[in-house]
Amino acid sequence: MKTIIEPFRIKSVEPIRMTTRDERERLLKDAGYNLFKLHSDDVLIDLLTDSGTSAMSAAQWGAVMTGDESYAGAPSFYRFEAAVKDLMDFKHIIPAHQGRAAEHLLFSLIAKPGHVIPSNTHFDTTRGNIEAAGAEALDLPIAEGKIPSLDHPFKGNMDLDVLAKLMSERGDAVPCVMMTITNNAGGGQPVSLANIRGAAEIAHAHGKPFFIDGCRFAENAWFIKLREDGQQDRSIKEIVRDTFDVADGMTMSAKKDAFANIGGWLALNDDALAEQARTRLIQTEGFPTYGGLAGRDLDAIAQGLTEIVDEDYLRYRVRTNAYIAERLDALGVPVMKPAGGHAVFVDAREWLSHIPPLEYPGHALACALYEEGGIRGCEIGTVMFGRKPDGTEEPARMDLVRLAMPRRVYTQSHADYIVEVFEELAKRKDDIRGLKIVKEPPMMRHFTAEFETL
Ligand code: F0G
Repeated sequence: MKTIIEPFRIKSVEPIRMTTRDERERLLKDAGYNLFKLHSDDVLIDLLTDSGTSAMSAAQWGAVMTGDESYAGAPSFYRFEAAVKDLMDFKHIIPAHQGRAAEHLLFSLIAKPGHVIPSNTHFDTTRGNIEAAGAEALDLPIAEGKIPSLDHPFKGNMDLDVLAKLMSERGDAVPCVMMTITNNAGGGQPVSLANIRGAAEIAHAHGKPFFIDGCRFAENAWFIKLREDGQQDRSIKEIVRDTFDVADGMTMSAKKDAFANIGGWLALNDDALAEQARTRLIQTEGFPTYGGLAGRDLDAIAQGLTEIVDEDYLRYRVRTNAYIAERLDALGVPVMKPAGGHAVFVDAREWLSHIPPLEYPGHALACALYEEGGIRGCEIGTVMFGRKPDGTEEPARMDLVRLAMPRRVYTQSHADYIVEVFEELAKRKDDIRGLKIVKEPPMMRHFTAEFETL
């Protein structure tokens, strides 16, 4: 069959509140042109993030009812721990309330001023936690990963030559090597097994641990199965296990590839580091058998992990994005190629080339998508990354708009609607104007900054 259908039926629905264009223009102005400040019931199709927005399955809701809320030693924890170890066999699994809490635990223990931590591309909270510890977060994507229009099967890969050079020149200052799968800030692009193994080898040759930010590990494994030589006949589970076998630990947001609405974990093999992490966990998150989560959340994650490696789901998941990206491409909208695992990335710097980077073409497009069709996407560009720690501002490497797909939430007609909104925008794109920032906090400004149109 040509059509890849949603491999589920819908048992429970949430209404979408319809809004008019005039209403949306007013709402956005009142929100200081910051899409994070909108009320979500004023959004028709919410593509702000794929994080925590998954539709849970009937089996997950059932598992919620088996959650045990004991402070210590709840069976929910042991079910969670077993489900994680079934896919990623690390010695210590330390639950946390979400991914960034796991990052905070890790980097508050191992990152120090003067350190540099390389990755294919750090996600913004990872960067924030590394910088908060006084260390430098260094992105080493391959050259192909920096060109949105270029097709490459593993555009999320790390440049291993640059990593090797860094390790020989400054290895003493590197407490660990990180790899983010898929490479979210680099366009939701996958990393090959060969590249993961190569990075681990370089780290280990210098006696340094190798950690994986595994938020979208199942999508990454699906791309490996589709695109990497010799992987076609292997199960997703086998590929996932191989992925993590070469790592010394991982950080994880269960809000992504575990179908949960909250949760995360830090996994480690190092006993001494795990002991320090658990001590810190008790101070900041909770006892090590719940880590800031309810027992029912741990059960939802445990069940979600058994569902995320399903190939019918992954085929549909990745196809949804490819379908939207292909149709936008046919309209002449420049999209990141190939389509990412969790999102479609539009190259706003290219499409709205009349808006200079410091007038935020990505943000301008995100605002226009909301006004035109009630779609909420997210700028990944100069608003998010342009302010440097020394206070200066410069254009980010790219100005993209990310349309992130919540898991199992929207259907084919929603996808068609998204394409139609772009069709309408294409007719008047030269009238879309840039913005200026009128208020911003010292760090992570994209969440709370306020804007005015130019
Ligand atoms: N690492 C990556 C690659 C992520 O994409 C995220 C979150 C995190 C870490 C942090 O996890 O949200 O559970 O604290 N990404 C979301 C997004 C927010 O929209 O891409 P968290």
